[in-house]
Amino acid sequence: MAAGKSVAHRYFEEFLTAPGDLAVAEEIMTPDVQFLNPVAKTGIHGIEEYQAFAKRWYVGFPDRVFTVDDEVIEGDTVAVRFTITGTHGGEFMGIAPTGAHIEVNGMNLFKLRDGLIADVQAFFNPMELYGPLGLSSPPGGAPMKDQAPAPPPMPAATAPSATDSGRAFEAFLEHEHVLGERVLKAGTVIAEALKGLTSADAIPPGVRAGMGIMVYLHETFADQAHLAAEEAIIPLAVARGMDPAHAKWVNDHHEQARLYWKAMSVAWRRIVDGDPGDAPFAIEDFWRNSEAFVKLFEAHALRENDVLFPEMGRYFSESDDALVMGIITHVGPPDIKPYIDLVTEMEVALGITPPAE
Ligand SMILES: [Fe+2]
Ligand SMILES: [Fe+2]
Repeated sequence: MAAGKSVAHRYFEEFLTAPGDLAVAEEIMTPDVQFLNPVAKTGIHGIEEYQAFAKRWYVGFPDRVFTVDDEVIEGDTVAVRFTITGTHGGEFMGIAPTGAHIEVNGMNLFKLRDGLIADVQAFFNPMELYGPLGLSSPPGGAPMKDQAPAPPPMPAATAPSATDSGRAFEAFLEHEHVLGERVLKAGTVIAEALKGLTSADAIPPGVRAGMGIMVYLHETFADQAHLAAEEAIIPLAVARGMDPAHAKWVNDHHEQARLYWKAMSVAWRRIVDGDPGDAPFAIEDFWRNSEAFVKLFEAHALRENDVLFPEMGRYFSESDDALVMGIITHVGPPDIKPYIDLVTEMEVALGITPPAE
């Protein structure tokens, strides 16, 4: 659809790229436009707030260029892969100019209404923006530990497993399960909200935003950071004498999870496609798979905490534990903080109060 192409291009090329024209917002956006991104956790609402957002970029990066690298248009949905380049020549989000050069790569998902941008979700690694400006975490985020391969910060307070091995790997993976519990809760909220809906337009915007983030987390994070780490360390326990049959269910559950996630991705694509005849089926496929995943993985995480990890821990020596921690922290993204922020954003979109940090 040519209209879709032109608004996304105008968004990046006329509204955001230098010199920048704030008035373009009124021509390409609906008055109630909303924008979620990894930095603005509660989102940007309305054209005025959007213009204030753009102005921060005008001031902070006077030579900024927002390039559209790729664009896919499906009905009222436009997906754009973008690159932002610029020099930090003015104050930006409270950071005095550093002269640093930034290059940020990411994706925007635009939802159009009557040809105008009504909803924008941006996905990028905030540290591509803030790292060059000298920050070790996005402004307002929890401070990160030094860049050492120490465990990334995780939400505090998990119920201690009754059968802790005392090994570092177990504490680390059980911490990740706390984040997993938040994702599972979001999956339940989404499933409950979708039941009985028969048209994509009936999905409340917050639920829709949450679904998009959920799918993104499944596709880019959960598998690579957590399941892959567990699968990478089980063979060492087996090499040390653990019965491989004791870990078989883990791999089977992981495969099952990947298939639920894949099914949710397909259902999401069908919902986003906007085929009204298919929508009731796509919505039902989404919530049924979400519900099935939640049910299996609530049990899965507990069984890992209480059975698998303690057993593996019995086979690991101290130096195995150090090796295992090295493996865990080198599988998946080096910094999971941006993904934790995405989970928080998903919760906010869904009306769930995120846990205090
Ligand atoms: Fe697992
Ligand atoms: Fe796990």
